[in-house]
Amino acid sequence: MSDEVNENNPAAAGRDDDPADGWFPESVAATYDDPGGANSPEVITPAVDVLQALAAGGRVLEFAVGTGRIAAPLAARGVSVSGIELSEAMAARVTAKPGGDAVEVTLGDMTTTRVDGAGEFSLVYLVFNTISNVTTQDGQVEVFRNAAAHLRPGGLFLIEVGVPDLRRLPPGQDTVPFTVAPDGNRSGYVGFDQYDVVTQEFTSNHVRVTPDGKGRFFRIPFRYAWPAEMDLMARIAGMKLTHRWAGWDRSEVTADSTTHVSVWEKL
Ligand SMILES: C[S@@+](CC[C@H](N)C(=O)[O-])C[C@H]1O[C@@H](n2cnc3c(N)ncnc32)[C@H](O)[C@@H]1O
Repeated sequence: MSDEVNENNPAAAGRDDDPADGWFPESVAATYDDPGGANSPEVITPAVDVLQALAAGGRVLEFAVGTGRIAAPLAARGVSVSGIELSEAMAARVTAKPGGDAVEVTLGDMTTTRVDGAGEFSLVYLVFNTISNVTTQDGQVEVFRNAAAHLRPGGLFLIEVGVPDLRRLPPGQDTVPFTVAPDGNRSGYVGFDQYDVVTQEFTSNHVRVTPDGKGRFFRIPFRYAWPAEMDLMARIAGMKLTHRWAGWDRSEVTADSTTHVSVWEKL
C-alpha cells in the first residue's frame, strides 16, 4: 500500500517520536501533509463531496482522523465533524487546517473509544486503507461494532480501502511490488507488499537506497479482508451493505477494481 506513509520519512524512530503514537509518530506526522498525492485537491474534493452527501446534514465521525486531511475540508463546508485518533502527533495538526478548528478530536483507539453523542451520528467513515491497520479479525469486528454504536438507526458507515492484491499472486509467490523506481545506477526506491494468505496478515515494505549507497528498509504490518468479509463484520454489528463503489466517483466495482468504497446502513 504505497499511500500509507510518506516513504521519504517513514516511521523510523525519530528523536521526538512517542511510541504511543504507533506507526504515525512525529517524524511521520511532520511530512504527512506535504502537497501532492493524497493531499491534492483532485483526491480530497471527490471524497468530501460523497461524505457531505451521505451525511445529509447530520453529525459525522471520522475514525482515525489523522491530521484532518478529509475532516477539516468537510467541516469547512459546515458539516459537524468529530474524530477519533490514536496518534497525538497526527491529531495536533488538525486545527492548523481551514475548517480544522471546528473538528472535535478525541484521542483514543477506534476499536473502543466512544465520543459524546454516540448513537446520534448520521455517518461514520474510515478512509485511506486504515481498517487494515487493525491487524486482527477480532479488532476489525470491533471497529464495525464501534461504528454501529455511534450511529443512529439508518445511519451509515463508510470504508475506503484497497482490494487485496491476491489476484497478482501466482502459486509460490508472496510479494507484490507497487513501486519500482530506480533513480540512478546505485539508488532508488522499491515498495512491495508481502502477503500471508493463511493468516491474512500482510506487510508493506519500503526500501530506499541513496546515491551514497546507504539504504533504509522498513515495514508496516496490516491485515487484509476481502469485501465480503467486511459485509459479514457489518452484519455482526447490525448493519447491511447499501453501496459498493470502485472509488469516490461512485463507479461500479469490477473484477479489476483495486479499491472499494463501501457503505453499510445501521438497521
Ligand atoms: C493513513 S493515516 C489516515 C489518516 C486520515 N484518515 C487521512 O485520511 O489522511 C492512518 C491513521 O490511522 C491512525 N490509526 C491507526 N490505528 C488506529 C486506531 N486503532 N485507532 C485510531 N486511530 C488509528 C493512525 O495514527 C493514522 O493517523
